[in-house]
Amino acid sequence: MITIKTDAEIQLMRESGRITKEVLDLIGNQIRPGLTTKDLDKIAYDYITSCGAYPSFLGYSGYPASICASIDDVVVHGIPSNEQVIKDGQIVSIDVGVVFNGWQGDAARTFLVGKVSEEKRKLVKVTEECFFKAIENLRDGTPLGNIGYAVQSHAEANGYSVVRALVGHGIGKEMHEDPSVPNYGKMGTGIRLKKGMAIAIEPMINAGVYQVDFMPDGWTVRTRDRKPSAHYENTVVITDNGVEILTL
Ligand code: MF3
Ligand code: CO
Repeated sequence: MITIKTDAEIQLMRESGRITKEVLDLIGNQIRPGLTTKDLDKIAYDYITSCGAYPSFLGYSGYPASICASIDDVVVHGIPSNEQVIKDGQIVSIDVGVVFNGWQGDAARTFLVGKVSEEKRKLVKVTEECFFKAIENLRDGTPLGNIGYAVQSHAEANGYSVVRALVGHGIGKEMHEDPSVPNYGKMGTGIRLKKGMAIAIEPMINAGVYQVDFMPDGWTVRTRDRKPSAHYENTVVITDNGVEILTL
């Protein structure tokens, strides 16, 4: 079921979205070689709880942390660890969810650590561009398939591929609501987005093949060819004449 948010509910989602964005800004300012992904997880947990909010990933289907930290060929859902030291030249995607006063925010950034190859820099840049292409013409009445079309065509025009096994989603009182928001699709297909719908748009773009492998830890998703992957996500709400980004 797709829920339509009232203005008062959107105001509450602005608050959780703001905290979500602040966590990512904080991590972006701190991330450097030598820190562990667990250090970043602690930064997120401490900040979110200091706001009187809760990290929505923690305990979700048994997930053991407040963020996902996904390095290089890890697409998404990397579990923070004391053993995983961040190194110069890596691209590190951080995904975080916040629930505040019962409302969810969900966002991700891929950070460049130190001296990153031109190849990986471009992948990160194009992945961000995919998100902005997707929201360019989004408003009340836009078919959902236009999002996937925009992401896929921009990624593929740059020689990259789009992950199919994981998708964006509606968001509100639950982290994952209807509809599913694939990063592939055809113009003019799917349900029409309506004012007051909130969705998490999250391109996951691979430098090589689109296929992924699910690791035995039950969470970590890697590219099948072990080439790098980038992720960029924001929670947005549909308005009359466009979208409002709640996590930027
Ligand atoms: N942002 C992600 C999503 O939209 C991550 C969820 S990870 C989990 O699905 F740990 F919460 F499961
Ligand atoms: Co999400």
